[in-house]
Amino acid sequence: MSKKIRVGMIGYGFMGKAHSNAYRQATKFFPDLPYEPELKVFCARNEERANQFASNWGYDQVEKDWRKVVESEEVDLIDICAPNNMHKEIAIAAAENGKWVLTEKPLSMNVAEGEEMVAAVKKAGVPNMVWYNYRRIPAVTLAKNIIDKGSLGKIFHYRANFLQDWTISSDLPQGGEGLWRLDVNVAGSGVTGDLLAHCIDTAMWLNGPITEVTAVTETFIKERQHNITGKVEKVGIDDACAFLAKFENGSIAIFESTRYARGHKALYTFEINGENSSIFWDLHDLHRLKYFDHGDDALTRGWRDVHVTDSEHPYMDKWWVPGLNIGFEHSFTHGVADFFASAKSDKPAQPDFQNALQTQKVCEAVINSGNSRKWENTNVEL
Ligand SMILES: NC(=O)c1ccc[n+]([C@@H]2O[C@H](COP(=O)([O-])OP(=O)(O)OC[C@H]3O[C@@H](n4cnc5c(N)ncnc54)[C@H](O)[C@@H]3O)[C@@H](O)[C@H]2O)c1
Repeated sequence: MSKKIRVGMIGYGFMGKAHSNAYRQATKFFPDLPYEPELKVFCARNEERANQFASNWGYDQVEKDWRKVVESEEVDLIDICAPNNMHKEIAIAAAENGKWVLTEKPLSMNVAEGEEMVAAVKKAGVPNMVWYNYRRIPAVTLAKNIIDKGSLGKIFHYRANFLQDWTISSDLPQGGEGLWRLDVNVAGSGVTGDLLAHCIDTAMWLNGPITEVTAVTETFIKERQHNITGKVEKVGIDDACAFLAKFENGSIAIFESTRYARGHKALYTFEINGENSSIFWDLHDLHRLKYFDHGDDALTRGWRDVHVTDSEHPYMDKWWVPGLNIGFEHSFTHGVADFFASAKSDKPAQPDFQNALQTQKVCEAVINSGNSRKWENTNVEL
């Protein structure tokens, strides 16, 4: 019999939906989990929309103040789907109240905040995780399994992009609903914390610690109307960022992210080149993994296009018959399943806060390097 874990969800935006869906699906497709999520309390400040959201997804109660949710005796787990400037305060209060705590990425606005959050969950001894969901796309997990087997041999290169095009217009305001990502006081940084954080998390998971970085950052549109103050204000985020990196294993990397790549909506790709083989993955084609093996017969050697839908592939035995794809939302269902499967074990699902803090350190070193125009050490401890 699985034990019920009562969820308190904070935020009804993009991620509030993705996570609510994941809690609903997880025990249906992963029936052997030791815990079963129960959608207990939903929290957002707009009461009418909060009520609609709660009724749509089946939450029992609605609350406007997140403090009441983290203190509620009827909640076991707090899930933070609010903007980045809210993560620290909610997570620490949740841990102090003995709740399990999950937060959306990035862990925090900066390293100092992240360290406080790590200390809080360690002190409270509560299970915790950060939603770097791309680790749980089956093709990406497969890449990890292939690399861990040593199939690539010595790794030389890591290359990642995360390209979008939605902030090109100078008429787009900053701040307020949906546009908090352009307000540095809410987001912490621009594409570095929003998009490159995903690339960095995946990169260090696949290829080990990043030790040094050198970056160029740019803010193409220097001032924008602020939706909340109504004034034209300086834009403090990085609109675009490119950085070079060195990994502890001797490989080198190039990362690029922008919201000014006309035509690209969410083009997250990575390629890894080793002495024996190479791997390439593309979010727009997320169920495929491209693989080149130099050991193949020379006459037929070429890039293989692996359709990651067979029951031998990670997570896929839980879904449909071979040949049928799953999508973006399933990575969150896998997150719930992995978190619940390991919540009380000595091998908790990753990335936990401590692990996600390492990504925060790289993000901060990238921003610092963009300002200093020098190589910066990351001080990552993995
Ligand atoms: N893992 C991913 O792929 C992914 C994708 C998108 C966003 N994110 C992360 O998820 C988080 C939320 O992003 P989003 O795109 O869902 O944002 P969003 O703007 O769509 O939604 C944010 C929600 O937070 C609520 N909120 C804000 N302040 C609040 C408060 N004080 N009390 C209660 N609710 C409050 C808002 O009302 C809204 O419902 C961010 O940290 C973001 O970086 C992760």
